[in-house]
Amino acid sequence: MKSHAHQIKSLLITIACKSADGLLLPFHALEIISGKDTCGGTHSSGANWVSGCRFPTLFLLAGLITTFASAQTVVKIDVAKPGMQVSSQLYGLMTEEINYSYDGGIYAELIRNRIFKDDEKRPVNWSVVQEANGTASISLDQHQPIENTVLTTSLRLDGNHASEGHRVGIANEGYWGIPVKPNTTYHATFYAKTAGAGGVPLTVSIESNDGKTVYATSQDAKINGHWQKYAITLTTGKNVTPSTAAKFVIATENPGTVWFNLVSLFPPTFNNRANGNRIDLMQKLVEMKPSFLRLPGGNYLEGDTVATRYQWKQTLGPLEQRPGHPGTWRYRSSDGMGLLEFMQWCEDMKAEPVLAVFAGYALKKETIAAGPKLQPFVDEALDEIEYVTGDTNTTWGAQRAKDGHPKPFKLTYVEIGNEDGFDTGKTYDGRFTQFYDAIKAKYPHLKLISTVNGKDPLGQRQHLTSRIPDVVDEHYYYGALEMMNDASRYDTYSRTAPKIFIGEWAAREGAPTTNLISALADAAWMTGMERNADIIVMSCYAPLFVNVNPGGMQWKSNLIGYDALTSYGSPSYYAQKMFSEYLGNISLAVQTENISTQAWQPKAKKDQTLPPPKQVPTLFFSATKADKNGDIYLKVVNAISTAQAVKVELNGTKNVAPEGKAITLSSAKPDDTNSITEPTKIVPVIRKATGLGSQFSYTFAPYSVTVLVISTR
Ligand code: AHR
Repeated sequence: MKSHAHQIKSLLITIACKSADGLLLPFHALEIISGKDTCGGTHSSGANWVSGCRFPTLFLLAGLITTFASAQTVVKIDVAKPGMQVSSQLYGLMTEEINYSYDGGIYAELIRNRIFKDDEKRPVNWSVVQEANGTASISLDQHQPIENTVLTTSLRLDGNHASEGHRVGIANEGYWGIPVKPNTTYHATFYAKTAGAGGVPLTVSIESNDGKTVYATSQDAKINGHWQKYAITLTTGKNVTPSTAAKFVIATENPGTVWFNLVSLFPPTFNNRANGNRIDLMQKLVEMKPSFLRLPGGNYLEGDTVATRYQWKQTLGPLEQRPGHPGTWRYRSSDGMGLLEFMQWCEDMKAEPVLAVFAGYALKKETIAAGPKLQPFVDEALDEIEYVTGDTNTTWGAQRAKDGHPKPFKLTYVEIGNEDGFDTGKTYDGRFTQFYDAIKAKYPHLKLISTVNGKDPLGQRQHLTSRIPDVVDEHYYYGALEMMNDASRYDTYSRTAPKIFIGEWAAREGAPTTNLISALADAAWMTGMERNADIIVMSCYAPLFVNVNPGGMQWKSNLIGYDALTSYGSPSYYAQKMFSEYLGNISLAVQTENISTQAWQPKAKKDQTLPPPKQVPTLFFSATKADKNGDIYLKVVNAISTAQAVKVELNGTKNVAPEGKAITLSSAKPDDTNSITEPTKIVPVIRKATGLGSQFSYTFAPYSVTVLVISTR
């Protein structure tokens, strides 16, 4: 395949640029194009390239005069050639506990610090309720454990003065508020006991932060002198205005001491799962049609230390048995999102898990050398695979059945570690070998992913492990133009080395979620994946989620943002949705001519001088065909501020329907974005595309990603 990247004219300086009108076939009836001049902004000289000038006629640089014939941008798609098979798992999702992705994110639990272990000294996220003349205090208590559980720290309420109309109690602020919605039923559970005589009545409610509005309340619980679990239903009325300015309260009008533990509150969940996921976020993911979910991280898998790695065995069973653990992103994880919950999350999306197993390397450079010391971790991984896939007559398959899911889950890929290239001790080879041999011996059908890669674009990629992995995971985080510059990376990759899983990638402009220029760069990058579908078998963007509240974000560029109440997809989210939704099973060869370029200034590496600017294409293409219906999906990214006309040639087919569909994502400015307040500012628009044929011209809107759906039957 000849890549369009190879065909970019190496233009140096533009001093003239003319209207494209005369060279275009007529605009499509329903296409919206702003402006006719194909040159954007002011013309410049020297190192600054004129962005998007497509029809240069005269070039001048330091006395050098070069002339070019006016040239039309052409994309040629070879429909007759067999093309490359596109992996059905090309687009998936990556997840980890970062930016409050699980707790305070997709995991629907609303109570923050529910077992009081988030801080050893103070009951953070909890406050005391003292109404009218009621007086009380709250504190952590290590002396009232609940037997046979990990619930060793309780919240103690000392109510000094309380009487009718003078209540005291505890309140939880949730993850930046408890989300209140009309006509909604919430399920609260908690353990409580009192020091005095039994029969102390407790009122449970969701109320406004100032306590003046009670959205839902229940007075069912009468507690006594021993630990008991209470379950209460709270339902809001139809006139409730959605709000996050609310808290969860358990209060009493009796004085005395009350202890609490494992206080939990769930709103309705996706597929009504107990301990389940937030509905709006799941819907957004399902709409992306992901084929897999890479889990549980990321750095979250590795832990800062071996002791704080993701220990899947501690995430099983009832919440009473889950102690949680310190995460790698500066907050503690409740482990409410446990291994079974991950699997059910996959099941609910009709996606497969890509299971990353801890491989003996933690972030603070702790490594377990290959050999006997590593074996317990290899065994841990084997047990984990058995938990996911084993029959109920296996030890861990039986445990899964006990936990509520007798049916094994489908698993094809297991990833050994995460970013082990950062292991400066270079111990991965030995560790990978030990895991590889043990997993392949027991599960020969499983495909194993290495996390150390060659990243050599010159076709010289080498296996960096002695055992040849089935797939290599490569990660790329870039600025937008840098990502566009690299969109042709795989056009020249070695075809003989292992297949590639781009397990984390993103153009990183815009925070807390990425903006339009990032979406364009992401889309450009995805055209590269589709053009190289023979070697790229899987990909997933990262990070997936961010809680946009102050303090919620640890990583600046993310795909989906939310607060307690609502969520939105970034432009990058919609670009991915478009690419995943309109994907054929065959990647067609694409050739291009006369693609204009724009300048990108790479940053200087440490202690080095600034490298010369690079010319980056302004248009990117890929084409796939769906055998099932004969549709061709031509994806085009126009990365600049001017509309660009392209002549499309579909070679090898005469059967092209004159009418098709154009799905376009665009906006006026590169830093335009979506947000909680403007969640759908930039979304794909579907229009009819007319005038199609085996040769046609189409004008791509400024700053746009377009999928042209072209029928060939
Ligand atoms: O996606 C954020 C982090 O980037 C991941 O945890 C890690 O794998 C990568 O370095």
